[in-house]
Order: sequence, then structure tokens, then C-alpha cells
Amino acid sequence: MKFYLDSARIDEIKKAASLGYVQGVTTNPTLLKRAEIWKDFKSLGEFYLEVMRICDGKIFMQVPSENSQKMLNEIKNLDDSRLVIKVPSVPKGLKIAKGLIDKDYSICATAVYTTSQALMWSSIGVDYVAVYVNRMEKKGFDAFKNVKAIVKALSNTQTSVLAASVKTVEQLSWLIDIGADYATLDYDMIEGITKCDFSIQDTKIFDNDFEKMYKRLKEK
Ligand code: G3P
Repeated sequence: MKFYLDSARIDEIKKAASLGYVQGVTTNPTLLKRAEIWKDFKSLGEFYLEVMRICDGKIFMQVPSENSQKMLNEIKNLDDSRLVIKVPSVPKGLKIAKGLIDKDYSICATAVYTTSQALMWSSIGVDYVAVYVNRMEKKGFDAFKNVKAIVKALSNTQTSVLAASVKTVEQLSWLIDIGADYATLDYDMIEGITKCDFSIQDTKIFDNDFEKMYKRLKEK
């Protein structure tokens, strides 16, 4: 499994990029609103240009289910090879996705809940389906069983499973276990991966022993 940062906050994108292991950034309209991007940017094009400057890798940008062309015009100067367009998993999304696939854009169908939805998107040629793990649990789905079935159904296709809405270390562990290709995580979870308490405790002991050993070496 590889990791993306799920955030539109520039400070979090900078910190995540500096960790070096994050594959890119995923965004959605709620994250853009939460980050209050209008305070620092005049347009979405300007915002995404800055995200691409800060962070290497793929940048996921969601289009609305209505008037998606307006937004696509705003980002037409961005590097297409690094852009993944997120299309909402609703009937109108199918037409949008097909049009974009014909223009060679990389597509992620987002807010996917069922195996049949995942297969439908895969059959039209999307590169990713974003499955909403925590939201599944909140809606009463057995998320483990459900995502496992989606991973299995897409295993011999060109479509990768991007686990989104991941809120706990336990969810992340079973997602890795069932072979989800990617997870997109908020900044705290991204940073949390770098800080295992047991590794920190072991490292303290190693560092102490280093100090003692160097002391003895110097005495010679
Ligand atoms: O990337 C999708 C994600 O942001 C949705 O998750 O945290 O709103 O349940 P959440």
C-alpha cells in the first residue's frame, strides 16, 4: 500500500511533502472549504499550481457533478500527467468521466460504496475508485467485508482501490491486509505512521548505548 495526504491545507501539504514518503495529495470540495483557500488564492488553478509546486506526485482534484467544464477550464494550464480528476459516483459522473477518459485524463471515481459500483467504474476505464471506509461503517456497512470484496473484484483490472475516509489505525491495518492499493489519510495519520511508540522506546535504548560505547572508546 502507498499513501496520499487527504488535505487542502497548504501547511499540512508542506509538512507531508517534507516527510518524503507521501505519493501526492487528494482533495475534495469539503477539504477546500475547510482550508479556506479563498484567503490565499484567487482561483482553483492558482491553488492547484501551488500544491503541485510543493508536492511531487499525483494531485487529485474533484469536479462538481454539474458544470464540471467550468472547473476544468480553470486548471487547463496544469501538468496533466500529475493530475487525477475525481468524478463523483453518480449517474451524471459517468458522462463526465467518459469525456475525460477520451481526452486521456487519469480518473478517480469517488464516494464509491458497493462492489457493483466499483466494477461499473472499472469497466469504463477509470484508474482509481475511492471507497469511503469510515463513512461505510457509519452507514451500517460491514466496511471490512465490503472493501475486501471490492479489492478482489478489481484485482485483475487496471483500476486501483484508493481507501479514503480512513480514521483509525485498525482500519488502516486491515486495509493493508486485504491488499488495498492506496490509502489517503489526514495529516495526523500521515505523521502518526512515522511515530510508533515501541520504535521510539527501542531507539532511546540504542542511543543510550551508543553514548556509553563512545565514552568507553574515548577512554582508550
Ligand atoms: O477523500 C475523501 C475523504 O475526505 C472523505 O472522508 O473524512 O470526510 O469521511 P471523510
